Amino acid sequence: MYNNSDSPIGIFDSGVGGMTVLRALLQRLPAESYRFLGDTARLPYGTKGASTIIEYTLKAAGKLVDMGPVKMLVVACNTASSVALPALRERFPNIPVVGVIQPGAKAAVRASGEGRIAVLATEATVRGGAYVRAIHALNPDAHVIGRACTLFVPLAEEGWLEGDVVEGVVRRYIGDLFAPEQTQTPDTLLLGCTHFPLLQKAIASVVGPKIAIVDSAGTTAEAVADSLKEQNLLCTRAQQGSVRFMATDNVRRFAATGGLFLGRNLSEDDVELVDM
Ligand code: DGL
Repeated sequence: MYNNSDSPIGIFDSGVGGMTVLRALLQRLPAESYRFLGDTARLPYGTKGASTIIEYTLKAAGKLVDMGPVKMLVVACNTASSVALPALRERFPNIPVVGVIQPGAKAAVRASGEGRIAVLATEATVRGGAYVRAIHALNPDAHVIGRACTLFVPLAEEGWLEGDVVEGVVRRYIGDLFAPEQTQTPDTLLLGCTHFPLLQKAIASVVGPKIAIVDSAGTTAEAVADSLKEQNLLCTRAQQGSVRFMATDNVRRFAATGGLFLGRNLSEDDVELVDM
């Protein structure tokens, strides 16, 4: 029932941030159809404990699957990917599941000349250590440091993306990594949270132009394309696919902020309010 190349891809995040991944998917795989769920009622996941994150993730994925067959589940949330992938695979053994951690690790290792990588993420993602493991699997000599940057999430949600206040917050969280006395200054920053790409400009202005800044959106789209191809599940339609947007709370805010993440206008009429 799931192995139908015309079925949509189910994609979810704790909120709107996963639209940075959806945006990359729409560029890479425009013929596919997508069912996107943002669990805005429970955002943020990143400050919660592992068992709560697993519970919410299983509910969100269950909601997408209950709406009809999906040929793949994309976990467009770093926090959920870092904590809940094994539980998700166990609950849905017949649906391929792609998370953002391995693709993000790949992007960081590719970009880093010296292997000194700082992962900026939520508390739960840093605590779980999934990025450190994924980066070390690709480069055992890498020096990886995780840094929880909790306030970046509400800043991005609020659309505060640049300026003194945002740069001050960035400096407060990561300024010490670039202090002159630091011996292991990162050469690469991995934005290990779906919200953080929106703050990239402010982060770059704090750390300067020599530091590579990468995220997992592009490499996740690559991983999805490779996996669909391997399983013969790529959509054969010639025309553009469709996107169904859903949120569990405040569709008006979801549409307004989601448009920022997606890079195009969304109206609240484009978003369905769902319960899970
Ligand atoms: N989507 C989450 C992530 O990528 C960030 C927002 C949250 O804390 O739920 O980690």
